[in-house]
Amino acid sequence: MERADKILANTGRWSRKEVKELIRQGRVTADGSLLRRSEDKLAETVVLAVDGERVTHSAKTYLMMNKPAGILSSTEDRQKTVIDLLPEHLREIGLFPVGRLDKDTEGLLLLTDDGQLAHRMLSPKKHVDKRYFVRVNGELNEADAQAFENGLILGDGLHCMPAGLALTERSNEGFVTLREGKYHQVKRMLAARGKPVIYLKRLSMGNLELDERLNTGEWRALTGEELTILSSLGIFNKKEVIPY
Ligand code: URA
Repeated sequence: MERADKILANTGRWSRKEVKELIRQGRVTADGSLLRRSEDKLAETVVLAVDGERVTHSAKTYLMMNKPAGILSSTEDRQKTVIDLLPEHLREIGLFPVGRLDKDTEGLLLLTDDGQLAHRMLSPKKHVDKRYFVRVNGELNEADAQAFENGLILGDGLHCMPAGLALTERSNEGFVTLREGKYHQVKRMLAARGKPVIYLKRLSMGNLELDERLNTGEWRALTGEELTILSSLGIFNKKEVIPY
């Protein structure tokens, strides 16, 4: 059992204060009945709706952000981090990124307080592909794509798993797909081919795609559909998420 306002605020869609206001205005129902008090304790299986629209909720919080360049994806630092881009009530609940991006990398960052999710999503055994758009100094070609497919061996001896490199009409741009996430991996792989990365953006993790409507620095809660995508990957157990 959990307080109604906490359940709703945990979705990341409203602050605790906004939730209280929604409830006060009579806009929230629990299992079809008007919810009158923020402090009412509800079962985790409760069906909540705001303005008649069903709200997916779980014990954990799941957000996607379009990470801007110039900001760290670690959780605590003297420098600005992605957590600083969130409103106050979401800065205090222990969110962390699932798979870091370099300071100068943009794009899809999943933020959660669900430790198991991070572990499972990043495990090479789960085959959750990470897809990146890349721009390099130089010209990408079939030989690069073949080298990626064969599994590159980097200068320091690191053996990379086979990876995808899709060429585009512009010879200095491509799409890289990785099944693992070693430190600076895309940059190191392309540096090994003599084509240093000048711009990098993560587009997807598994079937979870960056919402292109999010400008850099913007974030939103995952939708019910996106949570179902993660649960269908076996990323977290069904009990934790109540899909609709
Ligand atoms: N590979 C990199 O080199 N950097 C990132 O931020 C992500 C993948």
